[in-house]
Amino acid sequence: MKKKITVPDILACKGKNKVPTMITCYDYTNAKLVDESDIDMILVGDSMGMTMMGYNGTVGVTLDDIIYHTKHVVAGAPNTFVIGDMPFGSYNVSIEDAIRSANRIFMEGGCDCVKLEGGTEVAPIIKAIVNAGIPVCGHIGLTPQTVAMMGGFKVQGKSLEAAQELLDSARAIAEAGAFMVVLEGIPAVVANAITEKANIPTVGIGAGAGCDMQVLVAQDLLGMNEWVPKFVKKYVDLHSIVIGAYNEYVKESNERVFPSEPYQYNAKIEGIENLK
Ligand code: KIV
Repeated sequence: MKKKITVPDILACKGKNKVPTMITCYDYTNAKLVDESDIDMILVGDSMGMTMMGYNGTVGVTLDDIIYHTKHVVAGAPNTFVIGDMPFGSYNVSIEDAIRSANRIFMEGGCDCVKLEGGTEVAPIIKAIVNAGIPVCGHIGLTPQTVAMMGGFKVQGKSLEAAQELLDSARAIAEAGAFMVVLEGIPAVVANAITEKANIPTVGIGAGAGCDMQVLVAQDLLGMNEWVPKFVKKYVDLHSIVIGAYNEYVKESNERVFPSEPYQYNAKIEGIENLK
């Protein structure tokens, strides 16, 4: 059985070959599968807005949604480090409000840390949550909660100036006490520079292989959707496998092939033919 990793384990992974790997997960059944695998970290991400709720972004996900899903993931994955995502609106009103939101995710969700999006401007919020006793993971680059400000889901950090801003943000987040930072949707060269120069473990998604660790959305890597972003590798084509299984079930039900003998309950009941 795998041993649950800790914040110090993650901090110590910088520059190592064997590092923890992260995936998103939003429910008990899938959390159990992740827990049995070699994956060390689960992100209960606000990407649940798209993967579980059918929204076209993450902004509609609420604090109660995150707590609900985190609770059930934690129940299914006792040996996996679980990160609860702070949704839009849960940390942009005041520092007190941000601590209150983080407390709820940490206490009611039962996770091991929280994650929040933003660069240098959120450093005081990160510092306050860390000082309140909750480990924090940062998230910079393409930050889905603020795509409205970015003009859509676009790769970030494509100029020298923008790359410097991202590096400054990673340093500010580290200085504020975050123990790792997600780098999303940025050129690999920029992610490499941040990973090398900022004193904090990096987790890449659409940021190349040079990051300390990687994270992917489970539905993407499992091939549950036909379309996936450029940076996603489908490790299996569950879309075809699941639809194939559903259609086979329909066919066998129609043909009265299923349920065959092994799938029935049997009983000898004298006089069953005389039922009125
Ligand atoms: O919500 C999420 O799944 C995320 C990942 C894309 C990093 O933030």
